[in-house]
Amino acid sequence: MVKLKNIMKLKTAYLFILSIICISTSLAQTILPTPMEVKTLDSKFEFKTSIKLAYDTNCLQSAQWLADKLGIYVQVEKEESTVGDIVLSCKRANKDLGHEGYELRVDHDGIKISSNGDTGIFYGIQSLLQLLPVEVQAGKNYNLKGFTIEGVTIADQPKYSWRSFMIDSGRQYQSPEFIKRYLNYMAILKMNVFHWHLTEGQGWRIEIKKYPKLTEIGSKVATGKEQQGYYTQDEIRDIVAYAKELHIMVVPEIDVPGHSEAALIAYSEMTCFGKAPETVMGFSSNLFCGGKESTYAFIEDILDEVNELFPSQYIHLGGDEAPKANWDKCPNCLKKIEEEHLNDTHDLQLYFSSRLANYMKTKGKKVIFWGDVVYGNGTILPDNVVIQWWNSRGHGDLALKNAIKRGHPIICNTNQYTYLNFPLVPWSRYKENRTFDIKKTYEENTSDLENPNELVLGMGACIWTDWYVLEHMIDQRVFPRLFSLAEQMWHKGARLDFETFYGKVKQKYPLLTALGIDYGPALLEEVPIDYKWE
Ligand code: ACM
Ligand code: ZN
Repeated sequence: MVKLKNIMKLKTAYLFILSIICISTSLAQTILPTPMEVKTLDSKFEFKTSIKLAYDTNCLQSAQWLADKLGIYVQVEKEESTVGDIVLSCKRANKDLGHEGYELRVDHDGIKISSNGDTGIFYGIQSLLQLLPVEVQAGKNYNLKGFTIEGVTIADQPKYSWRSFMIDSGRQYQSPEFIKRYLNYMAILKMNVFHWHLTEGQGWRIEIKKYPKLTEIGSKVATGKEQQGYYTQDEIRDIVAYAKELHIMVVPEIDVPGHSEAALIAYSEMTCFGKAPETVMGFSSNLFCGGKESTYAFIEDILDEVNELFPSQYIHLGGDEAPKANWDKCPNCLKKIEEEHLNDTHDLQLYFSSRLANYMKTKGKKVIFWGDVVYGNGTILPDNVVIQWWNSRGHGDLALKNAIKRGHPIICNTNQYTYLNFPLVPWSRYKENRTFDIKKTYEENTSDLENPNELVLGMGACIWTDWYVLEHMIDQRVFPRLFSLAEQMWHKGARLDFETFYGKVKQKYPLLTALGIDYGPALLEEVPIDYKWE
């Protein structure tokens, strides 16, 4: 009897330990970004050769997306209904989940995703896919019949409504296929804004029909092999449509008045002294002249075409790093300052920015500027302006504080530590002070605010391509560190300790491999001595 009792005790202990192991290794626990709430169930769903996918009309887009994804592996019978092996429902969801939140339940009877809209359903699908083999997630061969998913219920919603990723296609051009590849990765990470930096000193990459020299000349002002291309309007429309399928809004950036040498080489009459800039590297005082009326007409014409191409409510107009040496000497700029009773050339930039923002307001658009436009005082920016805080290295949280004081919504995208072009260790072109690893960005990211002001829309991550960060170098810088930023953008609730989080990241490496991502090291101490960043 005693013996049996002991055996029973041992068995109970064994089952207890096993259940802990099962819970701790349950696939649901590996979902990234981490869902708000995950509960495992003692049940399983098994894939048969065919499945019935039921949906309601409000989530037809996501139903089709899932049917295409699973249709490679099993026969999918899609039907507007409330009964099926997989049921997608946009009706009667918990209203507290907002329009991006979702509930996912997997048990013996089937899979159910409910949400208040198609976007939430799409994110529920993204979590569901992470419960499937990496081959299926990556669209590779796999025999899904007989595969079982552990029972689970998930309730999830994002911390922030703005979760952006920026690619600098201005300094280096990337192919449309590459851009689409990154849109796919963004969808997996539940990121919803593709911030597309399309114009720079080193290249103008967006076709503008009214001003063909912008691309004929402006896309070829730099000498690098990957600095020669531009996106036709058809290619842009195709990318915007592709992003929309993934519930991603594309926000283009037309950076003015600085970082504009490429445009000003093409149309030198737009400079203060009618002379084409002689250099395209770094940033210079070769700005669009803020005094000439023709400048405003030129930029507004460009924006008319931009607005046609990008249905996004937001358009980014840059405004960063615009040294005023030329404006300080330009008769037209000085005249404008006098006529408009402005304080100085900094105020002239505020006048310039306000004027463009007001123009965009008449088109129903909101305008994003980098934080430089809220450093000083002067002309008040209109209420359709959003501030993207970037320069924490140079100006701390000045832009954040001033934007809050002036009532502008804010996107946090600080150069400590959301600039993924900075490698983990010094590189020939970035010194020690421009390096960080995944632990640093997880624990010290200045953009990851604990108690964000209600004006904070969210966070951004970016890959700048200055200093010849070429297309083939991007994966190794973005991954796996982007997991950390996506987690900070999405995960609502207590932050996981770093070891737990990093354990989850490592479990995603097979997925990265299956997706063909050439990911780099995560931790400083993991960087091989002879690791090549280029
Ligand atoms: C920036 O990094 N110049 C926005
Ligand atoms: Zn001027």
